[in-house]
Amino acid sequence: MRLSRYFLPVLKENPAEAQIVSHRLMLRAGMIKQAQAGIYSWLPLGFKVLRKLENIVHEEQIRAGHIPMLMPTLQSADLWRKSGRYDAYGPEMLRITDRHDREMLFGPTNEEMITDIVANYVTSYKALPLTLYHVQWKFRDEVRPRFGVMRGREFLMKDGYNFDLTKEDALHAYNRHLVSYLRTYERMGLQAIPMRADSGPIGGDYTHEFLVLADTGESEVFYDSAITDLSFGDRMIDYDDHAQCQAVLEEFTSRYARTDETHDEAVFNEIPEERRRVARGIEVGQIFYFGTEYSEKLGAMVQGEDGQRVPLHMGSHGIGVSRLIGAIIEASHDDKGIIWPEGVTPFHCGIVNLKQGDDEADAACDKLYAALTALGLEPLYDDRSERAGGKFATMDLIGLPWRITVGPRGLKNGVVELTSRKTGESVELSPEEAVRKVAEIYAPHHPHLAREEPMAGRSFQTWL
Ligand SMILES: Nc1ncnc2c1ncn2[C@@H]1O[C@H](COP(=O)(O)OP(=O)(O)OP(=O)(O)O)[C@@H](O)[C@H]1O
Ligand SMILES: [Mg+2]
Repeated sequence: MRLSRYFLPVLKENPAEAQIVSHRLMLRAGMIKQAQAGIYSWLPLGFKVLRKLENIVHEEQIRAGHIPMLMPTLQSADLWRKSGRYDAYGPEMLRITDRHDREMLFGPTNEEMITDIVANYVTSYKALPLTLYHVQWKFRDEVRPRFGVMRGREFLMKDGYNFDLTKEDALHAYNRHLVSYLRTYERMGLQAIPMRADSGPIGGDYTHEFLVLADTGESEVFYDSAITDLSFGDRMIDYDDHAQCQAVLEEFTSRYARTDETHDEAVFNEIPEERRRVARGIEVGQIFYFGTEYSEKLGAMVQGEDGQRVPLHMGSHGIGVSRLIGAIIEASHDDKGIIWPEGVTPFHCGIVNLKQGDDEADAACDKLYAALTALGLEPLYDDRSERAGGKFATMDLIGLPWRITVGPRGLKNGVVELTSRKTGESVELSPEEAVRKVAEIYAPHHPHLAREEPMAGRSFQTWL
């Protein structure tokens, strides 16, 4: 993309309405525009990051054996009356009436709808285990929408639902979700800690919330500092292997880590004092096992091996896709702007032309652009006739992890400059070496780069 042709409405001033840094930077970097309280338009740069996160979510869900689909945003009130949640949900539910006076609602979540689908089609245990999920907009009429996309009213969520014959199988589905979530957040450059949580209106005894530590988080959290040493890394996992998934759950949940709702001071005080931490966190996901309540109410029953009809064991599992963008920025920024982790950056690399209109500099930039694009990488080329300072400020604000700076002086010596957004360190390299280096950096995120396969015409979005 050439910046002169892009739509990137960056703001010079700090918007007064934004109280926290991620909200401020998303507005300043031209990622979102508020449409109404808690409702946002996703401008091109924000939309690109949103799609990247969504793509990671899909890849990791599919890797775990879960099946993507799409349910509508509008649901019928009758379905929710069957579960008893139509009245129970209260004013957070946006209720709508159509021209025929039929009562509808904008879905805050989808347990009822998915259970109804499964009740209609699944009749035998042979169809199990089954986990279906979608990534869809939700609406919750929050009392206090705030912090930008962090607590919106309309927000994008991945929600998945497992259907199993036995509690044991459903708990394996729970573990699969825990493992896939750990992988998902790590690919996004985040450490999200599973914490024992309260099950709230969904009910059930098994639930963990995933929290990203941040001073601006809305949840108070208590944990053993040893838990922050854990990382999933690049270990291979067989999602059908019950014991292997259970071992990961035990590894990541055996240390004390709880939100204020389940915090137990006496148990907490058993941890050596130097490891006790009280902090704040952003909830970026939650997993539940809740048994047969919804299947009984909505008739999701199957014939077991012995011919008896039994209700399915269920769980539901959510990732706050749009909230994650706020969480990533809270965890990764400096006073100049955002610093995107490589796995989610909207463009892989910026190209800054220090002297637009200079034949040699223009040609070198075009060549770099073509070489990166041929590898399947997306550069953002600042080809505007602005002074260098302004170009650097924009690149720093929008946070691309790598920048290649091209100027007549360097070109005389056959070099361009490759700069890390995170450390600010620069190295001088030939343009070819710079391209090779950028490809090497992104190889862990885009395996085709390591195989040195050309990418022309192919998309990174492999999940469909
Ligand atoms: N208003 C919101 N804006 C943005 N993301 C949200 C919002 N509410 C929930 N989410 C995200 O969706 C995920 C799954 O939804 P869940 O039903 O667990 O939310 P929740 O526990 O009600 O969230 P919270 O306690 O923050 O209100 C949450 O972990 C969170 O990341
Ligand atoms: Mg939750």
